[in-house]
Amino acid sequence: MDVVALVPAAGRGTRLGAGVPKALVPVLGESLLLRAVRGLLDSGSVHHVVVAAPPDQLGRMGRELAELGDRVQVVPGGDERTDSVRAALDAAERFVPTAEVVLVHDAARAFTPAEVVRAVVAEVAAGACAVVPVLPVADTVKRVDEDGTVLSTVDRSPLRAVQTPQAFTPEVLRDAYACSRDVATDDAGLVERAGHPVRTVPGHSHALKITTSFDLAVAETVLAPAHD
Ligand code: C5P
Repeated sequence: MDVVALVPAAGRGTRLGAGVPKALVPVLGESLLLRAVRGLLDSGSVHHVVVAAPPDQLGRMGRELAELGDRVQVVPGGDERTDSVRAALDAAERFVPTAEVVLVHDAARAFTPAEVVRAVVAEVAAGACAVVPVLPVADTVKRVDEDGTVLSTVDRSPLRAVQTPQAFTPEVLRDAYACSRDVATDDAGLVERAGHPVRTVPGHSHALKITTSFDLAVAETVLAPAHD
């Protein structure tokens, strides 16, 4: 089963304050991007990867991934994450027209264990059209008004925090992107809105999205040493 992964990495990532796009931020000498793309290929379930890069960083991201060979292609991303995924999806249809599963994975989730990648692919292979890895919500969740006063406590038992990689049949992801020009924070959100069912599999704490300098410190002291 031919599997292609799209990696939107065209964000500026200013929250990390590193002065380079977040995907190029190094963790113990290796960028989040290289770690994320290599992790996908090393899972054994992903055969090709299309990375959406900031248009002015195409060459740099290409060089960053050169050691992974011709299974990786870098294309220009867009203004919003959804534009970058759309550009990568268009390129993937030309690069891997035989793909039966399409994954979308954030470069910032560079330490996602192989078992999560394998689980989402296996669920599509078993017949699902869209699959997301999820974790239960550990904190109590409250709804607040504009002044920060609590309105109510939300029942957290049916809530899940969503990670990547998210896996889709190519037809369903294409349909979701054809149905909507909305900006979405995750691809499964567009698929839901297009009326397709989305399944869940267990996520993993190591698949956290590296967003803040605290997350980066966790990556440097806990996640990367365990990986390397
Ligand atoms: O900003 P945020 O962390 O939510 O971005 C999620 C992912 O989407 C990141 O990997 C980022 O590089 C990517 N992105 C993109 N194109 C954009 C904006 C974000 O590929 N225009």
